[in-house]
Parts: sequence; structure tokens; C-alpha cells
Amino acid sequence: MNTEQDRIIIFDTTLRDGEQSPGATLNVDEKLTIARSLAKLGVDVIEAGFPRASAGDFEAVQKIAATVGTEEGPVICGLARAMQEDIRQAAEALKPAAKWRIHTFIATSDIHLEYKLKKSRKDVLAIIPEMVGYAKSLTPDVEFSPEDAGRSDPEFLYEVLQTAIAAGATTVNIPDTVGYTTPREFGALIRGIKENVPNIDQAIISVHGHNDLGLAVANFLEAVQNGARQLECTINGIGERAGNAALEELVMALYVRRQYYNPFLGRPRESETPLCNIDTTQIYKTSRLVSNLTGMMVQPNKAIVGTNAFAHESGIHQDGVLKHRLTYEIMDAQSIGLTKNQIILGKHSGRHAFRDRLQTLGYDLSETELNKAFLRFKEVADKKKVISDLDLEAIVNDEMQQV
Ligand code: KIV
Ligand code: ZN
Repeated sequence: MNTEQDRIIIFDTTLRDGEQSPGATLNVDEKLTIARSLAKLGVDVIEAGFPRASAGDFEAVQKIAATVGTEEGPVICGLARAMQEDIRQAAEALKPAAKWRIHTFIATSDIHLEYKLKKSRKDVLAIIPEMVGYAKSLTPDVEFSPEDAGRSDPEFLYEVLQTAIAAGATTVNIPDTVGYTTPREFGALIRGIKENVPNIDQAIISVHGHNDLGLAVANFLEAVQNGARQLECTINGIGERAGNAALEELVMALYVRRQYYNPFLGRPRESETPLCNIDTTQIYKTSRLVSNLTGMMVQPNKAIVGTNAFAHESGIHQDGVLKHRLTYEIMDAQSIGLTKNQIILGKHSGRHAFRDRLQTLGYDLSETELNKAFLRFKEVADKKKVISDLDLEAIVNDEMQQV
């Protein structure tokens, strides 16, 4: 297996960790619809669910494996605790896929060991080779996660990872389960793993992070600089509590700043080779689909996919964008699958945007007409949040009648 990845692997867990968002439960058909859309988006791995969690999840994983898990399609993955029955059921559900992965995990932080598992570090070190080895007897593609790695003792973590890799794990995933780490700490953790786990070159380093402090995406970008090659993320950042790292934010950061990230993948800075396999023009569609099916609204100011992400309201910004898009945009709306950016007319808008919209609507006003209409527009805009095209037409027609 080539662990020297020259591309970032995008592992989507919308259907597993994302579905763990309170209230976001999906039925089998909805999961299948989202899985198809994720395949079209170009994700490398779909974590389709946790087969032992429920009969419905088992069925969904099995259906996704059978229909989306084609030879050319993504790897289909299922979650399993480090327990024989979880692993057996995951394998059973995943088997119809051409390429499939078992993702098994056990907690390694002292907090989790003492209060949740009631096990010692020694117990955990004994379970890992047994369960990773069992998973490996069922599939060559095994991922292992030390849950709560972000709060685990790094020395113990190195031993855990070395043991998991020796038992056959081909991906070792480092979860910041409670979103506790900061970017510098998380980057240092990944670097420490690269430097201190003797067999680390036999596995891909993956990262998984929650957004309790709003730092998940920043942590991942720091992890990439320090050797992480798989990113676990969800559409719209949905997931437990404050959610997971958002796929669209990670992918667009890697896309917009590709010259910056190239050297970390061993490429010349100016290389235009994409950093991952995602078709960015599918991002907006997939975001809408996930929002509609899970019922989880996307906040208007959400990076990349929020309704305001490509909208400009203030006069200074509108004037700049109308003169040259790059004045206030670092990516274009088409790159995520929107048709165009939006100039929103409101009380902060200026004459340039006002005149531009009227011309689009077919009005060619004289300077005097424009001045009068603009004054009226400002009066209306002070009372209404957003001025629609209908409002504009009413304003102009009114003013023209009076001239
Ligand atoms: O957050 C977490 O630790 C997880 C693991 C199961 C990877 O979701
Ligand atoms: Zn998680």
C-alpha cells in the first residue's frame, strides 16, 4: 500500500458522525440519496454508518455498499467499537462494496478509561491487537482510532498507534473528540506521532475533529502541514454537539490556498495539481441536499455555503466588486456550483450598484432621474432590510411619473 499520499484523502462522515447531530436522523433512502451525492462530489471514503447501532443503520450501510460502492466509486466504511460483534456486523454490512473499510476505535484518554471504559491502559493495549487483528482477517483496509486522542498522554498514544499498525491498521486516525485542542497543539501532536511512532510509515495519518471551540478546520490545516493525509469531515460541518470539521471549508481552503499547501505535499509551490479529488462545483448542491434531508439549517453567514457567503451589501464593497471581483472575493461563486455572486440592495448600498441593477432591469435613467430615484431608494431601504427588484421597479416608476 502506498502511504506516501500526494493528495489529501477526503473521508466523509456525514452519514455516521454527522447523523449523530441531535435531530438529524435519516432514513435508509435518505442516506442512500446523500451517499450518491457524496460519490458525485468525489469523496474518497464514505463512512456510511455504524452497523451495530441499529437494524436501520445496518440496512443503510449494506444498501450504500451495494449501490454506491462500485469499483470506480468511493471506499465504503463502517464504524465498529473494538468489539468482535461490532466488527463482524460491520464486515457483514460492508461486504457488497467493491472496496470497503472497517473503522474500529477505543478510547485512550485517562478520563475515558477511568469513567467510561473502567479499563487500564494495559487492558486497552491488549484489546487493540486482538480487535485490529480480527478486523484485518476480514478486510485488508482497516482504520483504527484512539478516541479522545486530543486529551490522551502522547507517550501512551505512540505506543497505542505502534500496536495498532503492527496488528494491521493501514490508517490511524487521530480524533480530537471533544474539540479541545488548538491548532498549534494539534499540529504538534501530529508531528510527534510522525517522529515517535517507529512504524508510522506503514499507515496513513488521518485526523478527525469536533468544533466545540470552532477550531476544527484550523486544526486540520495545521495537521496537513505536519503530515496528516486524510481528513475526516462532514457536509455543513454537522455532527455531535458543535459538529465536525466542515468538508466545504477544508476543501475550499486547500483549493484557494493550493500554492501555500503544495510544499507540504512535496510539490513545487506553483503546481496546479488539485490537492484532493473533490469536484468543488458540486459543493453547493450537496450542502443544500444535506440541509434539506437532515432539517439542519445552514446559518446565513456560514463560510462557503451560507446564503451570504457570496453576497455584498455595503456600497464600498459593491462598488469594488463591480469594478473588479477580486477586490472583495477570494473565490468565485461558480467554483462551488452557484451561478453568480449576489449584490444585495439595502441601506448600505451605493449609487454604482443601484444604477447597475436598474440597467439589468432595463432602465436607462438620466442623471437627474437617477439622483431622485436613488434618494427615494435610500428612504425605503432605511425601513426595509432588503430591496427586491419589484421594490426597485415601483420606486423608479413612481419617480419617473413625477419628473
Ligand atoms: O469523535 C470521535 O472520536 C469519533 C471516533 C469514533 C472517531 O467520532
Ligand atoms: Zn467524532
